[in-house]
Amino acid sequence: MTPTSITTGRDGQAAAEPAYPMVRTCPFDPPAELAQLRAENPVGRVRLWDGSSPWLITRYEDVRRILSDPRVSSETDRPGYPIQSEAMRIGRVFTRSFIGMDDPKHARYRKMITSDFTARSTEALRPVVEKLVNDLLDEMEHGPRPVDLVKAFALPLPSMVICHMLGVPYPDHAFFQSCSRALLDTTAGPEAATRANEELWDYLTDLLAAKEAEPTDDILGRLAQRYIRTGLLSRDDAVCMATLLLVAGHETTANMIALGTLTLLEHPEQAAEVREGGTAVVKSAVEELLRLWTVLHTGRRRVALEDIEIGGVTIRAGEGIIAASESANRDSAVFASPDELDIHRGSNHHVAFGFGVHQCLGQPLARLELQMAYPALLRRFPGLHLAVPLEEIRFRDKMVVYGVQELPVSW
Ligand code: HEM
Repeated sequence: MTPTSITTGRDGQAAAEPAYPMVRTCPFDPPAELAQLRAENPVGRVRLWDGSSPWLITRYEDVRRILSDPRVSSETDRPGYPIQSEAMRIGRVFTRSFIGMDDPKHARYRKMITSDFTARSTEALRPVVEKLVNDLLDEMEHGPRPVDLVKAFALPLPSMVICHMLGVPYPDHAFFQSCSRALLDTTAGPEAATRANEELWDYLTDLLAAKEAEPTDDILGRLAQRYIRTGLLSRDDAVCMATLLLVAGHETTANMIALGTLTLLEHPEQAAEVREGGTAVVKSAVEELLRLWTVLHTGRRRVALEDIEIGGVTIRAGEGIIAASESANRDSAVFASPDELDIHRGSNHHVAFGFGVHQCLGQPLARLELQMAYPALLRRFPGLHLAVPLEEIRFRDKMVVYGVQELPVSW
């Protein structure tokens, strides 16, 4: 499909505001209109599900500039904030955590758990992740084929790791995974979203209360003892933080494992390099897959606190802003042949983990998991292949985190 031309009005507004998110024509690429916007109307208005019309910023440099600008707010309660969906409006436990706060409050909360997510703390988890990877692959090897890679590997691995870190019992995974799916489903109705929200709230409230009563050596246990018991963190704020960590800690990485594997299966030569290569090639392959997929694929949301000049446009105080990281990561001004997989791409400063003060706290952990998952999977099953035609794979385009519904594979 050729996107219709988008003309720019005198005030920088597009004559016709395109609906956002736009529809993908190819499941492997962000919507084609984004390339046209980058060229013709890099800061322009779009229309959201609720009729609001925030500014969409599509060029890499502008996206980084706005995300590091202290004159934008992440507070979802502010008028003008471009909320993603009805479910996200209801599911505020998630956005009421520090991901939805501004500094200095945001920094105060984030600092409570930063030490658990540093490169060094994450590195200490390597043996745990390695064992989980091997155990899951053993189970897969001895189980039936074909198998759904999402269920057998991509989803359990990050869920088990985050449960281990937080001190959440993994046997409860079916429950919290279904709640988090409902919260991240942009088509979920208010009832489903409210139910998921309340159930997860009650579950984590009880878990934190138990950890307050009896100390445990895990992130939620330490939060309960150091911050809740001492009055530095309210119980409600702790529940919001736990929700953020639990949901962010498994959904994103799980979808990256599945999508990244699919991409590698479609590029056998580059897959062979990941299978046989050393640490350096694996690391750069992971960055390239993160860039290509940008699984948080419907922009980083903000609202302007003051008038901001950007890309020849003045965004007024109170207006909503969407920094389209999925577009920035395909900007040909920064990435040569941006739609191609090139695991040897040098200096890959993608924005798949965001940019600025809210840049992903869990990125060392996500990197560790991905750097271990892809080569281990490809080495264990050198003949790994899709068990259905590519056209039959169903993509999760209505979810806040992009992915596949299932990935049937065999070997
Ligand atoms: C491939 C995997 C991942 C991707 C692509 C990803 C992506 C992102 C992005 C784009 C943001 C910025 C949000 C914004 O600017 O509004 C973010 C924030 C965050 N992520 Fe991740 N993430 C991943 C894995 C993880 C993991 C494993 C955790 C572990 C708990 C995690 C925890 C967080 C937290 C707590 C924030 C909020 C940071 C803040 O507001 O200061 N993420 N992530």
